[in-house]
Amino acid sequence: MNELVIFASGSGSNFRSIINHIKNGYLNARVLGLITSKPEIGAIDIAREHGIPFYVLSAKQFDSYDAYELAILNQCLELNPRLIICAGYLRKIPPKLIHSFQNRILNIHPSLLPKFGGHGYYGIHVHNSVLESNETYTGCTIHIVSEEYDKGPILAQKQIVVNKYESAEQLAKRVLKVEHQLYPKIIASYLKQLNSPSE
Ligand code: GRF
Repeated sequence: MNELVIFASGSGSNFRSIINHIKNGYLNARVLGLITSKPEIGAIDIAREHGIPFYVLSAKQFDSYDAYELAILNQCLELNPRLIICAGYLRKIPPKLIHSFQNRILNIHPSLLPKFGGHGYYGIHVHNSVLESNETYTGCTIHIVSEEYDKGPILAQKQIVVNKYESAEQLAKRVLKVEHQLYPKIIASYLKQLNSPSE
């Protein structure tokens, strides 16, 4: 009932945190597979470590965008998870997937959306922009994925105070720490809500 498919393109520290929260019993779920847009990334090492199947699906492998979109969709339909969890996935989620898994795809973003979201705001660019804008607060946002980048309904945010003397890398590290706590918690409560919609 609580099966997850993880989408990731990077080091996978959120993926690891989700696995750890499952293992320690905090998150009642099972990871069916990892879908990545790149080979040789940290997230794949984590999947291997835990015996989780992974699938590298990059647009470059296909003759057309349609073929790529269909391959991702078919893979997800075959795995048939309750939720798709984007954890540092750097490609746009194909519209067909969003339609088939309506309100069942979550994403985490390393800023307080709507601030510092949308095209070009990913990775260290987000934190550089936060520092350049002299923001007092930053943090992370968990939202439902819709067709517009970083614009879907917000489920939760956690803020931290920006230290104007820290580097973007230091800030990124502190935001990640908060992400690792918040994402498993929100996945758990969202699954609960999906399973008993009247609550
Ligand atoms: C996180 O900061 C997340 O908010 C963003 O991508 C980063 C992924 O980090 N979407 P990791 O691969 O989970 O370490």
